[in-house]
Amino acid sequence: MLEEEYQATHRPVEAERNLPPLTVPFEYLIRDATAADLPYVREIYNHYVMNSTVTFDEKAMSLTELRRKFAHITKLGMPFLVAESPSGQLLGYAYVSPWREKAAYRYTVEDSIYLGPASTGKGLGRPLLQALLDASAAAGIKEVISVIADKGADASIHLHETFGFKEIGHMGKVGFKFDRWLGTVLMQKSLKPKK
Ligand SMILES: CC(C)(COP(=O)(O)OP(=O)(O)OC[C@H]1O[C@@H](n2cnc3c(N)ncnc32)[C@H](O)[C@@H]1OP(=O)(O)O)[C@@H](O)C(=O)NCCC(=O)NCCS
Repeated sequence: MLEEEYQATHRPVEAERNLPPLTVPFEYLIRDATAADLPYVREIYNHYVMNSTVTFDEKAMSLTELRRKFAHITKLGMPFLVAESPSGQLLGYAYVSPWREKAAYRYTVEDSIYLGPASTGKGLGRPLLQALLDASAAAGIKEVISVIADKGADASIHLHETFGFKEIGHMGKVGFKFDRWLGTVLMQKSLKPKK
């Protein structure tokens, strides 16, 4: 192809390059979850159950199981938050749950944060995790532990690091999903008491 022909056929692409980037504001509201959110929470979670190794669950979570978990967490006064779009679409959720049920562990929780696939990489993880940690501190929680898959969850590891979570352990080959062995990285953060 001659240079002139090439330039002629590719002009629209050149023109597009000079356009300002398309900026659609990504707006969200973070609030306490309600029972009405649970079907949407379940949908987000089950997407990762079926398509990723970020959770070691292999079977879709039922609504009954999720309702039980939600009731347990809220009864303990622990935060379960959701992020929603201005039109009311559920974008993601985050909660903490007891690290262990034995009494002496009562100030220690494990956090969970999941954004819908279309809401990742847009900066929502950071304010949602911040809100979760603030609400956890306000609830009297002292220690937060994150158990993160050592493969395919780099964004989560990085996000927790930016909040001051420190790696406290790495368990190799404790999970087996999609025909491969997986480990977990354990991270911990101490919360400052809320004044
Ligand atoms: C993990 C999750 C909550 C992060 O939220 P997010 O808004 O998508 O986060 P971002 O894309 O802004 O990424 C967070 C940070 O990790 C970095 N990051 C993203 N992908 C990365 C990768 N593959 N490797 C290393 N760092 C990565 C980002 O650059 C960002 O760092 P910065 O704040 O210094 O710029 C979200 O991606 C999610 O819900 N993922 C699926 C479910 C999941 O993995 N949950 C956690 C289970 S432990």
